[in-house]
Amino acid sequence: MDRGILSEAIYYPFCGLIGPKYCACDQGNEAFKLWCQSQEVQDALKKKRRKEIGKSLTFSEIPVHWKEKTLASLDGQEPLKLTANRYLDGFQKFREQGTGMYLWSEGSGRGKTHVLSAICNELIQRYLVPCIFMTEEQMYFRIREAYQNHAISEKAQYRKFMEVKCLFLDDLGATKITPWKNEVMTGILDYRLNHRLPTFFTSNFSPESYEQSLQSSSIARPGRITSRIYEMCRSFIIEVQGEDFRKKL
Ligand SMILES: Nc1ncnc2c1ncn2[C@@H]1O[C@H](COP(=O)(O)OP(=O)(O)OP(=O)(O)O)[C@@H](O)[C@H]1O
Ligand SMILES: [Mg+2]
Repeated sequence: MDRGILSEAIYYPFCGLIGPKYCACDQGNEAFKLWCQSQEVQDALKKKRRKEIGKSLTFSEIPVHWKEKTLASLDGQEPLKLTANRYLDGFQKFREQGTGMYLWSEGSGRGKTHVLSAICNELIQRYLVPCIFMTEEQMYFRIREAYQNHAISEKAQYRKFMEVKCLFLDDLGATKITPWKNEVMTGILDYRLNHRLPTFFTSNFSPESYEQSLQSSSIARPGRITSRIYEMCRSFIIEVQGEDFRKKL
């Protein structure tokens, strides 16, 4: 034994490296601390984190177009950026409350999906939270696909959307609601509300007009979806102002 460093080598899961074993004495603790600060360990930690972020991004299914969007790459929209940053900074608290966000504007190209994806990217980069990002319609497609494909359990697919730590649903209300979609969405939102799991939406409808559109459809108890959205997103129901950015491009 020399300066608390033993001759044996062991695997350190925290950085994924094999390193020397350290004695439990003061000298050993000091030597271990020094090793942790070394370039070798710091580089291994960075590499491990990059790998974990990459895995989380793949798991999220966020499309390539949205993978690199950030709040910094959004021109103008200062109040919206401030609100999104307030949410990101306070995420630990909002997460415990199950608070999500509802971004809406009647017009297109205002940056709703841009901001939604920037928040998803940032939650993955900063907090490594498991997220799923897709349109409402894609989510139904996934669940329907599981009905037809016996290799994927429909229940497991349904549970994935219920249980994922953060669910991002783009374009809520973009297609016609059906009794089946109503049942699926209500079930998912009900579970997420009861388990305080944040859910984020974009829509071309305000919550009020979305409720009206559901009321004019033939589904039973049309207020159930919007009522849950109000509770889940209460302080973050935001109208996104501005012009159609796509016309400027
Ligand atoms: N303020 C902005 N700064 C930079 N890029 C922007 C801004 N607003 C929108 N964009 C870009 O313009 C394109 C359209 O924006 P986005 O898809 O977010 O609009 P949207 O409000 O979701 O529209 P829709 O209602 O049609 O879904 C995207 O590529 C987005 O990155
Ligand atoms: Mg959009």
